[in-house]
Amino acid sequence: MADEKVLKGAHGGEIPNPEATIWSRRDIFSLAGWAGVAGVIGASLLAFTRFMFPRVLFEPSPVFAADKPENFVPGVVDERWKKGQRVWIVRNDDGSFYALLAICTHLGCTPNWFSAENKFKCPCHGSGFKPDGTNFEGPAPRPLDRIKLSLSSEGLLVVDKGQIFRMAAGVAPDQQ
Ligand code: FES
Repeated sequence: MADEKVLKGAHGGEIPNPEATIWSRRDIFSLAGWAGVAGVIGASLLAFTRFMFPRVLFEPSPVFAADKPENFVPGVVDERWKKGQRVWIVRNDDGSFYALLAICTHLGCTPNWFSAENKFKCPCHGSGFKPDGTNFEGPAPRPLDRIKLSLSSEGLLVVDKGQIFRMAAGVAPDQQ
């Protein structure tokens, strides 16, 4: 194939082709082809690298150690873990305990504890809950959920938010 960068002159001599560039059409197609191959290899490598790092969401453990049982005042809603864990812990007068999830059973807002009124009140739509979590006003369809409690070998109250107990609507937990 003739060199596209030079033309034959009228007397057989070679003159430079004014339309020729340093890149011939073949060079450009060849380059495009290699760029495509490199692109496919690059994308495959990226996909493989991404595959080696699975999309796992590392969430904090739902289990936490609260405090020693003797450090809870009987009949008082303990709010020490409301902000960090959304949990209230209550010690009954007889020494038993229960933990409530501080998530409104209507649409999930965080209720507040009003000790003077002896109730939890949700700021979003006004649902009210008794100290044992029973719903008694507003749109909440059921009591606040309860959470599993246990005692660790170190004598600490352990809260396991992975184990939630749903109470029936409008019924006090100790009557279920
Ligand atoms: S979210 Fe609590 S009353 Fe609606």
